[in-house]
Amino acid sequence: MFMEVEVVSIPFMRPYFSESGRKNIHAGIEEILQSGRLMMGPYAEKLEQSFRDQVSLPHAISVTTCTTALQICLQYFDVAGGEVLVPSGSFVTDVSAVQWSGADAVLVDMNSQTLSFDMEDLERKVSSRTKAIIWVHLAGIMSSEHGQIVSFARERGIPLIEDCAHALGASVDGVQAGALGDAACYSFYPTKIITSGTGGMIATRDSALDRYAREIRLFGRDAETGKVGRLGNDWFLDEIRACVAYFQMCELDEFLAHRRASAGHYDQILRNHPGLRLLDVPNGNLPSYYQYSVFLDAAINREELIKNLKDRHGVVAKEIYLPTHKETVFQHLDDGALKQTEETLARSLCLPMFVGLGNQEVEEVAHALTTEIRQLL
Ligand SMILES: Cc1ncc(COP(=O)(O)O)c(C=O)c1O
Repeated sequence: MFMEVEVVSIPFMRPYFSESGRKNIHAGIEEILQSGRLMMGPYAEKLEQSFRDQVSLPHAISVTTCTTALQICLQYFDVAGGEVLVPSGSFVTDVSAVQWSGADAVLVDMNSQTLSFDMEDLERKVSSRTKAIIWVHLAGIMSSEHGQIVSFARERGIPLIEDCAHALGASVDGVQAGALGDAACYSFYPTKIITSGTGGMIATRDSALDRYAREIRLFGRDAETGKVGRLGNDWFLDEIRACVAYFQMCELDEFLAHRRASAGHYDQILRNHPGLRLLDVPNGNLPSYYQYSVFLDAAINREELIKNLKDRHGVVAKEIYLPTHKETVFQHLDDGALKQTEETLARSLCLPMFVGLGNQEVEEVAHALTTEIRQLL
């Protein structure tokens, strides 16, 4: 019996470890194994320091994942029994973390230009029950309406949690993603800007959150008395993953430069191409380009395009996400009016984007895309 072999010449993403990065990681893991210190050691501290330096914030706390980072922040802001405003076009754990924290998620529609909140819907959805806002920098692009979003939260005294899972190293007018809100959460999942397999970080200027997160991630144990004074969990990042993440972080500038160069190359080839809308990135806005996404004209059948790209060119492309309210478990959150999210994501197409993607590969993908679009228009 013959197995069907799938030929993929250009993957959607691939984690990247440079030769020197791998050497450092091997040596670091050897050092950890020899020392016997597998948790709460020097690599977690070095990783946290690298985040404090990167985001220019006084506190950074390493944790198991971005999802647990979000949950710790939500618990700290005491959302249980209230509502949390969450974008309807994002990753599902933004909503799961809210539900695990004992609050109701209220989905907010998307602005198709910024991929962030639709400000009118944000106004409509806020209420006296709103206990926090989760603001996602989708695809690694910060909204040009960042000033309005921050003011919206500040004026109402609502904690603003930045989900920076896609946005490590992104900035707007020189301010890093994560430094605008009250707390920021980062992910080291395999597809992310840096990875340690899994892993996460909270960054904040709030010293009480710093202390709270340090206790919650380590069983709820008070750092001074050693007593378990809170209901905690085991959500600390172990030394081996902290070591991997730290050496990835040492190369962050190179990783970002690579992603930005690939995005610039895609832009150059695809700009003004019939059937496509590219994202408009304003001056002063420096995305991390976790994803490179284009938006297709309604006349183009996206599923057929995705299939043709894969079958005829070996190019893997995908939608950004399914809207959260279209996932089975979250259908009850659909208020019937999240139309911009549905339309924007239905037309979205993310092209291969990862460190190590060559210029020639970018050209091949862009050529495959324009060839297939011409046939479908
Ligand atoms: C926007 C967003 N938030 C949160 C997460 C969750 O991150 P983690 O897997 O580290 O929990 C992800 C994806 O993995 C994500 O894409």
